[in-house]
Amino acid sequence: MSTLPLRLDRASGVPLPAQLAAQVRELIVARTLVRGDRLPSSRALAADLGVSRAVTEQGYEQLVAEGWLETLRGAGTFVASGGLSTPAAPARAPRQSPDRPLVTLDTGTPWIDPRQRAGWRRAWREVSAAVPPPGYDDPRGLPELREALADRLGRTRGLTVEPDEIVVTAGTADGLRQLLRVLPPGPIGVEDPGYRSAAVTVLDTGRTTVDIPAAQPITTLTGLAGVYVTPAHQHPLGRVMPAAERLDLLAAARAAGAIVIEDDYDSEFRYDVAPVPALASLDRERVAYLGTAAKAVAPTLRLGWLVVPPALSAALNERRLATHDGASWPAQRALLTLLRDGWVDKVVRTARRTYAERAPRVAAALSPYAELAGPLAGMYSTWLMPEDLAVAAHEAALAAGFRVNLLSSYARSSGHTGLVIGFGGITDAELDRALQVLTRALAAGPAAGPAAGPAAGPRP
Ligand SMILES: Cc1ncc(COP(=O)(O)O)c(C=O)c1O
Repeated sequence: MSTLPLRLDRASGVPLPAQLAAQVRELIVARTLVRGDRLPSSRALAADLGVSRAVTEQGYEQLVAEGWLETLRGAGTFVASGGLSTPAAPARAPRQSPDRPLVTLDTGTPWIDPRQRAGWRRAWREVSAAVPPPGYDDPRGLPELREALADRLGRTRGLTVEPDEIVVTAGTADGLRQLLRVLPPGPIGVEDPGYRSAAVTVLDTGRTTVDIPAAQPITTLTGLAGVYVTPAHQHPLGRVMPAAERLDLLAAARAAGAIVIEDDYDSEFRYDVAPVPALASLDRERVAYLGTAAKAVAPTLRLGWLVVPPALSAALNERRLATHDGASWPAQRALLTLLRDGWVDKVVRTARRTYAERAPRVAAALSPYAELAGPLAGMYSTWLMPEDLAVAAHEAALAAGFRVNLLSSYARSSGHTGLVIGFGGITDAELDRALQVLTRALAAGPAAGPAAGPAAGPRP
């Protein structure tokens, strides 16, 4: 191949090697470039694009590090045959199909610094050399991992726990499900708008949900067995629960004999102030704490942790012993190494910097048209606007190959409307293009959106 259909924009503010890497990555995802295709030499491509060779070299190096490309000494640079799995897409799928948007600005996909891949590989090499326990292991999870998690929770979340008070889960929904199995019967309050997986999980266990208005003080929990909340960063409105409200919530839980279920999914990604300590640090008897590896390691690792209130601990562990409801040993072993090596801390630090840089870009683009729902934090922001305007922007984005979530899709009875814009799992160039599309649609207003297709199903 002598040339590539790339357009680098010096005015965009995004470094040229990053633009190049993003566009080549998209060509591979869209199957315009397929496994084994040879890319032009960095020198030829630099000449084609009118940029220095350092730009093309750095762009290629980035993609080699990510596993999209491989360099064969003396032969050139090729689309990799192994490495990262290419998302399955029909051959040369049209990039702008509303049914298969390629770029998802969801709230759940984090940005993992590709420069940290060596540490990731090292952890898995260590797993491959280790011998798994011969039988079923401790039902609470790998003891050394629980020690490392206890240390980290103390350090980063102000939560002092013994390793034996932690159980390792297969993620937040799994931890919630296991907890619900051992809670006394009764409905569960769930924030509205709120995390859809939480409401679905509650219903799955045969309980009913009660909508609890999100981002408002919770003063009574009468008649509920528990309430699910996201106090560090309300999902999806973004609000941090103030100290006085935390105390009121705990008092309401005590009065009702209910358990507060704290989902602490992304609290480490504050960039304006230090994260507020976990609610569970105020009352270990009343609060069950759910943590996840989805944001700092990878959603697909399917690992999380649950700090169980002491009164429920024996029942939960007995149940795990009977059901083998544990987490995969290799994944636990790898997470242990990633924690011990400082890999997780490093990834959190670099992701925080990335989000701190992207969040204001989203804010600058959206604030002329909508109201920010909470402080800028984490890997998404939520913008309040009338539903027809949000739908017009959502559909314009879909038509351009981007999926953004409608706030109304997180609401059950609350009537909140707007857009929820994730900026973690995308490239800078993708974010810039998505913001361009969105702001154009928002400026044009509700009537000007393209002919309505079905709204794409939301993602967490
Ligand atoms: C509110 C909330 N909790 C938890 C999670 C993580 O869930 P899991 O650990 O099951 O991947 C997410 C991911 O998007 C989330 O948005």
